Amino acid sequence: MNVLGIESSCDETAAAVVANGRQILSNVVASQIALHAAYGGVVPEVASRQHLRDFLPVLQEALAPVGGAPAVDAIAATYGPGLAGSLLVGLNLAKALALAWDLPLVGVNHLEGHIYANWLAPPGGQEEVGPEPRFPLLCLLVSGGHTELVLMEDHGLYRRLGATRDDAAGEAFDKVARILGLGFPGGPAIQAAAASGNRRRYPIPRAWLRGTHDFSFSGVKTAMLHLAPTPDDAASTLPDLAASFQEAIADVLAEKTAAAARQWGVNEVLLSGGVAANRRLRELLAERCPVPLRVPPPVYCTDNAAMIAACGYYQLQRGQPSGWDLDVVPALKLR
Ligand code: KG4
Ligand code: ZN
Repeated sequence: MNVLGIESSCDETAAAVVANGRQILSNVVASQIALHAAYGGVVPEVASRQHLRDFLPVLQEALAPVGGAPAVDAIAATYGPGLAGSLLVGLNLAKALALAWDLPLVGVNHLEGHIYANWLAPPGGQEEVGPEPRFPLLCLLVSGGHTELVLMEDHGLYRRLGATRDDAAGEAFDKVARILGLGFPGGPAIQAAAASGNRRRYPIPRAWLRGTHDFSFSGVKTAMLHLAPTPDDAASTLPDLAASFQEAIADVLAEKTAAAARQWGVNEVLLSGGVAANRRLRELLAERCPVPLRVPPPVYCTDNAAMIAACGYYQLQRGQPSGWDLDVVPALKLR
C-alpha cells in the first residue's frame, strides 16, 4: 500500500510516498528557513502563504518517481499540532486530492508522525527494510515545540510519562542561539559552534525534577542570559558557552530517558523530533540507555512527510480513516 504523506504544520512544505508504512519511495521537503531567518523565528502568515506557493511543485516532485497519482492508495495529512494557517493549506490540499482521486484520507498527529520516523527504512530495495521496533517502546520526542517522554505499548497506544514544564528542548536551543547571536534555527548553529568548545568550562544548572519524568529548560536559558558574552570576548568564549549549554540539555535528556527505560522495562528507546539530529544527545543516549537506541537519519528527524505517511499507514491498517469533516487542531496532544 502506497501512502502519500502531506505535511505543513510549521515552516516545511513536504510531500512523500511511503510503501507499507516503512519504505520511502520519494521524500520532498521545501524549507522556508531562509525566508524566516530575517525575523529570527517563523512568522505564521508568511509561512502559510509560502506553503501555498510551494505545495504543487513539491507534490509533483514527490509523485514523479512513483508514476503519479495511479500509484497512490491513500493520503495522510498532518492535522495538528502546529500553526493553524499552515496546517489548513496542507490538510485542504490532502482533502482535495483524496476527493478528486477517490482515495481514503487519514489525519495524522504531527507528534505521532515524529515517532513513526523510526519505522522508516532508507530508499532502496525491500531487503534494506530492517526489523520493526518491538513494543513496549520508550519514545523521547524532542522538537521545537515539544519535549515528551512517551511509553508506546502498541501502534497508536501512548502513555505520556513526562513532558517539559516550560520551554521545549528545541525552543531552548533556538532562544539561546539568539542570546549568543548565532542565528536561526538555533540547534544546528549551536551544535556547529560547540564542536570546538570545552563542555566543562561553564557549570550550567540542570533541573532534574527528581521523582518525575518531567523536564524544565527555562533555568538553563536564564543562566545563558547571564553568561552572554560581550562582542569583544565572543570569539574566545562562544564555542565553550555553546558546548556547555548543549551538554546541559543533552545530559538531562539522556539521563532521564535512560532512567525511564530502566523503570518501565522497555525493549527499545526511540528518539525523534528535530533535536534528535543533535550529535551529542545521540552520543549520550547511546552510552546510557540500557536497551538498544533507535534514531532516524537526521533528514527524517526534522519535519518531513515520510513520517506522516508511515504513521497514516498504521492508522489505516487499524481501520481508522478520517471523514471529510476533519479539521485542523493547532493544540492537538498525543493521546
Ligand atoms: O521537529 P522539528 O523540525 O519541528 C518541530 O516540530 O518543532 O524541530 C525543529 C527544532 C528546532 O528548535 C531546531 O533548533 C532543532 O529542532 N534542531 C536541533 C538540531 N537540528 C534541529 N537542535 C539541536 N541540535 C540539532 N542538530
Ligand atoms: Zn516537528
